[in-house]
Amino acid sequence: MCGIIGYVGAQPATPILLGGLRRLEYRGYDSAGLALQEAGGPLVALRSVGKVARLAEKVKQELTAERQATATVGIAHTRWATHGAPTEANAHPHFSADRKLCLVHNGIIENYRAIRARLEAKGHVFTSETDTEALARLIGEHYQGDLRKAVGQALAQVEGAYGIAVMATAQPGVLVVARKGSPLVLGLGEGETLVASDASALIAHTQRVIYLDDGDIATVTANTVDIRDRHDVLREREVAELGLDLGAVEKGGYEHFMLKEIFEQAESVGNALRGRLDTEHGTAVLAGMGTSPRDLAELQRIVLVGCGTSLHAGQVGEFAFEDLADLNAEVQQAAEFRYRNPLVGSHDLVLAISQSGETADTLAAVREAKEKGALVLGLVNVVGSTIARETGRGVFIHAGPEISVASTKAFTGQVAVLLLMALRLGRGRRLSLERGRVLAAELARLPELIAQVLAQNDAIAAVAGRMAAAEHAFFLGRGPMHPVALEGALKLKEISYVHAEGYHAAEMKHGPIALLTPGTPVVVLANRSPQLDKVWSNAEECKARGARIIAVVTAGSAADTIADDRIVIPECDPLVATIPAAIALQLLAYHVARLRGCPIDQPRNLAKSVTVE
Ligand code: G6P
Repeated sequence: MCGIIGYVGAQPATPILLGGLRRLEYRGYDSAGLALQEAGGPLVALRSVGKVARLAEKVKQELTAERQATATVGIAHTRWATHGAPTEANAHPHFSADRKLCLVHNGIIENYRAIRARLEAKGHVFTSETDTEALARLIGEHYQGDLRKAVGQALAQVEGAYGIAVMATAQPGVLVVARKGSPLVLGLGEGETLVASDASALIAHTQRVIYLDDGDIATVTANTVDIRDRHDVLREREVAELGLDLGAVEKGGYEHFMLKEIFEQAESVGNALRGRLDTEHGTAVLAGMGTSPRDLAELQRIVLVGCGTSLHAGQVGEFAFEDLADLNAEVQQAAEFRYRNPLVGSHDLVLAISQSGETADTLAAVREAKEKGALVLGLVNVVGSTIARETGRGVFIHAGPEISVASTKAFTGQVAVLLLMALRLGRGRRLSLERGRVLAAELARLPELIAQVLAQNDAIAAVAGRMAAAEHAFFLGRGPMHPVALEGALKLKEISYVHAEGYHAAEMKHGPIALLTPGTPVVVLANRSPQLDKVWSNAEECKARGARIIAVVTAGSAADTIADDRIVIPECDPLVATIPAAIALQLLAYHVARLRGCPIDQPRNLAKSVTVE
């Protein structure tokens, strides 16, 4: 949520900052700004409402070529508004009272009102509605030539979450960065150092990174990095290799990142499964779970926590754990977990599901679960992310960078790994060798099953064409397809702004059916499953009220008379089928959004990674 990039080195900073912002734009894109430092000169800042392209335009118009060439130090930010509307005045960077120091900030300063009141009483005149300006001014109050010290003193008075980058005119060539609850990573180049809120902004410059820990304050120059922990003790943090190439964060010929990521799924799910399936023994090998078979056998309950799309993946997992592992499984919304005083203890496994590994609510749930003595595992995509590091163990989904705000390949990777986990736990408990083998073989087919769905892109686009004008839509499913219906509806509303509701098919008649009018699209997940007859009955009830039924059906299943449109997914196990079905709905949402002319990769009001509560 919000993106930060900072540069200190020998190259002109402006293009590096703008390039970094473009890579980070998926984290927030309602306004952007940058500030440059030149030895002996004032800090120069430019800010603009809207996307990074507008800031780049402004830079071209307002910054002389000479200044662009000479300034080799700077910080920049792309914003997802929390306090104050997306206006130029609220865009970052924000300045101290004397304008000799400025900062960019991700997160929320929860006690900013008190800080602001205190500073106003001392004569400060605020120029924005943001919480960030209070922090900039507070650091300015403490500054006496030592930026790190001033940042430390100011942060000691702050409650909330932050990732910040600060610079001061009196200390040319120095950036001070700090984090608590909001990620920051340092990129180490040759004679240059970068800071960013996530690694995708660094790939073009370096593969060597240091992930900061919560509480760290780092002072960086072109050639040095000094990291102090929350107790002000100097720390040597491990230098990690990113192992990512630029292609992973570029569109590669696709019109949108979302389409690229949808089409990557045969490969990304293959990556999630690679080396983890043991088809002979009908089980999965998941080293990251790191627990002894005995511990796993003694588990009494599994609690899955996550937000948004990751929550839906957890809901599919809930079915899998109960069905395959005979394990009492429940899904809890991460935002609620710690406030409900959760009943978890040492016999419970809490599984935190998060693409980014940075979602504030999921992270808070991890901390609470650890506090309560539960066994905590992460199911995360981003290596080096806070949840991955704080859980210490877990399973990565290896989906590669997901840039489109609407999550696609992360969802299918999460579901694939949840099925692996359920298989693994199941085999350690009561799941028979025979059923384990069947399921392992089905999972191994996933890349091929996914390819079959992707091959129907044109047919799905045609179905989308027949529903693109609708303002409302319903998605219905039962069993493990219920969360897939929720996810299908979420995808459609996120990117096309069509009001979409996901419902349990049987619940439709308990209220929502009142909303159906002739022609309302109702997408029904009608794959082959023990509940198929019931699903068709629920679809009939909608059809009888004039709804247009779009059915996701299994190839080769008996012809139905209800569906107005059909999307065919390959025959497979009903749990495994959640993945091809979800991909069909991703494509459906994508094409509806494209036909409606929506900004697919960066839908209004959303952000990729929500690092505030
Ligand atoms: C945001 C994103 C969603 C995502 C959710 C949880 O709302 O826009 O796509 O599902 O956060 O994110 P996480 O990174 O924890 O999976």
